[in-house]
Amino acid sequence: MKPHLHSAFASCPDRRETGSEKWDRWADRDVLPVWVADMDFRTPEVVLDAIRARVDHGVFGYTHEPPGFRPALADHCARRHGWQVDPDWIVAVPGVVTALALTARLCAEPADGILTFTPVYPPFLTLPGPAGRACVRVPLMRGSTAWSIDFDALDEAAGTSLPKLLWLCHPHNPTGTVFSRTDLLQLAELTDRHGITVVSDEIWADLVLDDDAGHVPFASLDHPAAQRAITLVAPSKTWNLAGLGCAAAIIRDESLRRRWRSVGGGLVPMVNPLGYAAAEAAWRHGDAWRCELLALLRHHRGLVLERVALIPGLSCLPWQATYLAWIDCRATGCADPQVACEAAGLGPSDGRDFGLPGFIRLNTACPTDRLLVALDRLAQAFPAA
Ligand SMILES: Cc1ncc(COP(=O)(O)O)c(C=O)c1O
Repeated sequence: MKPHLHSAFASCPDRRETGSEKWDRWADRDVLPVWVADMDFRTPEVVLDAIRARVDHGVFGYTHEPPGFRPALADHCARRHGWQVDPDWIVAVPGVVTALALTARLCAEPADGILTFTPVYPPFLTLPGPAGRACVRVPLMRGSTAWSIDFDALDEAAGTSLPKLLWLCHPHNPTGTVFSRTDLLQLAELTDRHGITVVSDEIWADLVLDDDAGHVPFASLDHPAAQRAITLVAPSKTWNLAGLGCAAAIIRDESLRRRWRSVGGGLVPMVNPLGYAAAEAAWRHGDAWRCELLALLRHHRGLVLERVALIPGLSCLPWQATYLAWIDCRATGCADPQVACEAAGLGPSDGRDFGLPGFIRLNTACPTDRLLVALDRLAQAFPAA
């Protein structure tokens, strides 16, 4: 059923000529961009008001965490995810990708491996190399209703001398899987047994679409592996703030926190004051808007699943979180689904970049009429033989 849609999601500003990574990629062609994971919607008024107030202050000197930042995130973790975080555990960072790169240097030595479940958000595959670490890929299993962890394969990969770190993407981009408490406990047991530290990228944690698939932060488990884990969070996916560069690492271990600051010193810039203002307002006051967004995203998931099922050779499992559809095009026999989509005027992300050719990732976070155009173009890209 079509949800009652707040006008905030019925239309959106034109992003061309604003330096938008998403919209500039095919700026000279009629290709509708549904690739990079940001939304075409304006961030909520409560966040804009906080940014305006900070702008009106007018002084933008060197800034560390303002007094409200850590408590706002800690309260958000408790309220939304039932996780009690001591504000002292929180370290601000300008981005989750930066933080991932830092953990490669902090928790692993040269030539150590970093475990990753594939397919996965591309930096998980590309960051270990430049840090002199090996990327150890463990494919997820595609079941009939969801993608899941192959624990036997993980145990085997972890058993080699290489891996010191596991980069967990939870909820998972691009499959949208929300790992269950049982999965996470099994991961905790396995990584503990092999002496592997878990870094859990939980940037999508506030976009779980179904109430019954609640997000469990890995570090909230009652397990020694959870005590040592590093959690990465940000308001950027949920409230569309990626350009403001504000994220946080939650690190319980005090010595790790100290080393984090020294390893990042001189390399990782400070978070900017507008990012702090936006993040704090989003965590404190953004929940009503977030709930409206979730209703829209559930509606969009239904539309995508319905339309994809009508296109011969395409298939897509229902995602539990994110606004991303991970579409299997292999049965179409098309040699290059990305090229076929672009030729039909649609610009998704290419599965090859996620370590799984033959798939595309389609971003549904746009007004519904635009998504329907995208789905028409998807059908044109894969006509019946
Ligand atoms: C799993 C995941 N981690 C990190 C990021 C990017 O984080 P940031 O912009 O804070 O570097 C994304 C963006 O799509 C993502 O999907």
